[in-house]
Amino acid sequence: MVKNKIVMTLTPEQIQSNWKQLLTYIDYHISEPRKDKLLEFYNKYEERIALMPAAHKKEYHNSFPGGYVEHVNRVVRCAVKQYELWRVEGADMSTFTIEELVFSAINHDLGKMGDENEESYIPQTDQWRRDKLGEDYMFNSKVPFASVPDRGLFMLQSHGIQYTFNEMLAIQTHDGLYDEANTKYLKAYMPEQKPRTCLPFILHQADLMAARIEFEREWLPKLKEGKKNLANTKKNYILGTKPNSSKKLSTKVKALGSIKSNGLKNMLDNL
Ligand SMILES: [Fe+2]
Repeated sequence: MVKNKIVMTLTPEQIQSNWKQLLTYIDYHISEPRKDKLLEFYNKYEERIALMPAAHKKEYHNSFPGGYVEHVNRVVRCAVKQYELWRVEGADMSTFTIEELVFSAINHDLGKMGDENEESYIPQTDQWRRDKLGEDYMFNSKVPFASVPDRGLFMLQSHGIQYTFNEMLAIQTHDGLYDEANTKYLKAYMPEQKPRTCLPFILHQADLMAARIEFEREWLPKLKEGKKNLANTKKNYILGTKPNSSKKLSTKVKALGSIKSNGLKNMLDNL
C-alpha cells in the first residue's frame, strides 16, 4: 500500500505475479490426477479470475481488479501458518492433509467467479451507486442465485474436479458463523455432530485474517486521517501503472497480454 494514496491499485506486473503464484500453489500442493484438471480449469478462466475483485463494494475487501487472486493467495499463506499453530498446540492433524487444506483455501471463494458463461461481478453502470456507495461493481443478474460455496463446489464438479469430504465441508463453512447456513455444522452440541477435523476452523480463521488485513490496509489510514466525508474516499479504483514508470503503461493491455474475452474487455473499458 502506498501511504496517503486513496486509490488501491495493483500494477499489471503484480496481477501477473499473483496469478503465477496461484498456479505455483496448485503445482506444488495438489497431486495428480486432479492437479492437471485444476490447472486446466484455472487456465481456461484465467482472463476472468486474474482480474476479478474479491468483493463488489469497497467497504468489503479487495474490491479492485486482481483483488480476488491477491486475497486467495493470502488465504493460502495464512492457512499454512495457521496449520502450524494448530499443530504445535496439539490439534489432531492426522484428520486431514496439507493438500486438502491448500485445495480448500485456493477454491474457497471460487463461487465468486460466476458460472461458466457469466461473471458474477460486472462494472457498476449506475454512476450514483459508484459515487455514493463506492460500488465499482454490481452483481450480474444473468447469473442465477447460489451461495458462493455452493457455486464454487458446483463449478469444480462440473469441470470434473473431485474434492474430498473434508474439502467440501471446509469450503462450505469457510465463512464460519457469519453465514447462518453453517450453524448446522458449527453449532452442534453433540460431539458426533461436530466436524471430525479442525480443517474448517483453520480455513475460516485464515479467511477472516486475510479479509481483516485487507480491510485494515484499505480503511485504517483513511479513518486515522479523520476524514469527515468518507464517501470521497470511495472514488474509483483503477488498474495501476508501475510506480515511477516513465511511460504510461496501459494496464488494460498489459495485465494479461492479449485479452480474448469480450466480457473482460468491457470490464476493463469501464474501469
Ligand atoms: Fe475469502
